[in-house]
Amino acid sequence: MIATTAAAIGAAFGLYFTNTKKKSRPAGSSVAVAESGRKYLIGGNWKCNGTVDANAARCKIFNAAGPIPSNVEVVLCVPFVHIGMVLESLRADIAVGAQNCGLNNACGAYTGEVGSHQLKDIGCTWVIIGHSERREGFGMAGEPVDLCADKCKVALDNGMKVMFCIGEKKEERESGVTMKVCAAQLAPLAKKLTIADYENISIAYEPVWAIGTGLTATPQMAQDTHAEIRKWISENISPDVASKIRIQYGGSMKGANAKDLLAMPDIDGGLIGGASLDADFFNIVAAAPN
Ligand code: PGA
Repeated sequence: MIATTAAAIGAAFGLYFTNTKKKSRPAGSSVAVAESGRKYLIGGNWKCNGTVDANAARCKIFNAAGPIPSNVEVVLCVPFVHIGMVLESLRADIAVGAQNCGLNNACGAYTGEVGSHQLKDIGCTWVIIGHSERREGFGMAGEPVDLCADKCKVALDNGMKVMFCIGEKKEERESGVTMKVCAAQLAPLAKKLTIADYENISIAYEPVWAIGTGLTATPQMAQDTHAEIRKWISENISPDVASKIRIQYGGSMKGANAKDLLAMPDIDGGLIGGASLDADFFNIVAAAPN
């Protein structure tokens, strides 16, 4: 009992006093990576969920889950306080990411912030930037488009990979300005990023009305918007970037609807909230076409 409590406390503060880079994680069961084409990117976003015990249990479930196909890359973005323990216990073929990072490029007087250089240092490889919940602010000031793009640039410069979220609200879709909204969220990136930066970024198209609501864009609806986003990238960044960049769909994606969404030619993965909290996440992983 005492040992369990000590382990739990240790795990809770793993971010501060363990060196996760020295630990060896369970290997997982991925097969060798195919190098051609866009590899599916399945991202989990645990949001602000879980305790030490609950998230340790989730790691156990995922460690016991099936193999990750060779054409699928999996990343799990967990709360900051659980990054240390997840890095110590989660199978090594699932990358670990954060859900936000600071605009700061180095350590300093940034109370409450976590820098992307610190995420990199602890062993995180991915970070979500510009999630609609952060853009909106949930009661605090939201993050404007330029701030999201600036954070993205700092994170990339610090060696992180970024899942950059964009997407329209319900009333914006209804009034036919979906692509205008997505373009306004992408435009600051096009100004700030170099062509090389795009190797480390994935765009997560997440219609706000579909997030956490149980409403999913139909596969055709999502495909149409993904194709428009790719066209915008081709015209405003470069055709080569457009053909290589991955565009994930997010918004109530789950095992039951993943196969039809992932079968669409411009849907290169998913960013999954609710369904990443349990074993259904691996049904999504398994739903990617071979
Ligand atoms: P959801 O969340 O899968 O619960 O809709 C997706 C997200 O917010 O990234």
